[in-house]
Amino acid sequence: MESYSSRMSGIASPNGTATSPYAPAPPAPEPSGPTVIALANQKGGVAKTTTTLNLAVAFAEEGYRALCIDMDPQGNLTMSQGMDPDQIELSMYNVLIGQATMREVIHRREIDVAVSAIDLAGAELAMASMIGRERALQKALVAIKDDYDVVFIDTPPSLGLLTINALTASDRVIVPVQCEYLSMRGLLQLQNTLAMIQEHLNPEIQIQGILPTMLDTRTLHAQEAIELLEENFEGQVFKSRINRTVRFAEAPVQGMSVLKYEPEGSAAKSYRDLAQEVMAGVK
Ligand SMILES: Nc1ncnc2c1ncn2[C@@H]1O[C@H](COP(=O)(O)OP(=O)(O)OP(=O)(O)O)[C@@H](O)[C@H]1O
Ligand SMILES: [Mg+2]
Repeated sequence: MESYSSRMSGIASPNGTATSPYAPAPPAPEPSGPTVIALANQKGGVAKTTTTLNLAVAFAEEGYRALCIDMDPQGNLTMSQGMDPDQIELSMYNVLIGQATMREVIHRREIDVAVSAIDLAGAELAMASMIGRERALQKALVAIKDDYDVVFIDTPPSLGLLTINALTASDRVIVPVQCEYLSMRGLLQLQNTLAMIQEHLNPEIQIQGILPTMLDTRTLHAQEAIELLEENFEGQVFKSRINRTVRFAEAPVQGMSVLKYEPEGSAAKSYRDLAQEVMAGVK
């Protein structure tokens, strides 16, 4: 029930003098909580995990309190911060089925990571009969809404229940693509899933941008593929591009982001540039 003081809160002016009880109600408070961004593409190996980590670290460098959530049973994000998914006792699996809180599965490394373990592969089955199964992640995030400014969710290469949970909990989605014809066809499928999510689960979600990754700028094919992407998804392709470099394979082996592994390198710079672009759309 509404308390007396909240009902009367429109009455006293900031300097303490009484105003009319009929004065207009104060504006509704700004919706609180972090901006939640999912990294999604059902095609495998397009740099979803790499982008989740490096973008989050670039935000953290700018002073944002950033969290990464590993929603992929492969646990690549968890591993890329030097943790072994086989040794993890509580993971996002336990969170999704209501056995653990988010805080219990967040490990503080270079960045905060809510970890995955192989049992996450059984989550879709375990959640199948749960009421509100698409909203399990959204519900779990409420408990940490004051702890972070921005949350990045890494998703598996499929459009199953784990990805649907991520998209239902998110304000935005970033879609990394490798510039090839086949991955562009996959984008249409992803758009259909998003339309379904917008209609039934999360009307607010928007594509923040499509990110060309693993670009080999020397090849004509890559340039043609980008042009095709820009033609087909006008206004939705980020200006930032992520070039192909072996640094992205080397850094996770050391349990680091590329921003830490080679702070002054061009790979780190490309994710800092992307972060600036993304920040422009973060509340
Ligand atoms: N710009 C890049 N240049 C070269 N290699 C890259 C680049 N980005 C990512 N990689 C490497 O490509 C591989 C796939 O990247 P990543 O794991 O981020 O993709 P993913 O979309 O998360 O894959 P999955 O669908 O399996 O989850 C990794 O070995 C990663 O180190
Ligand atoms: Mg991945």
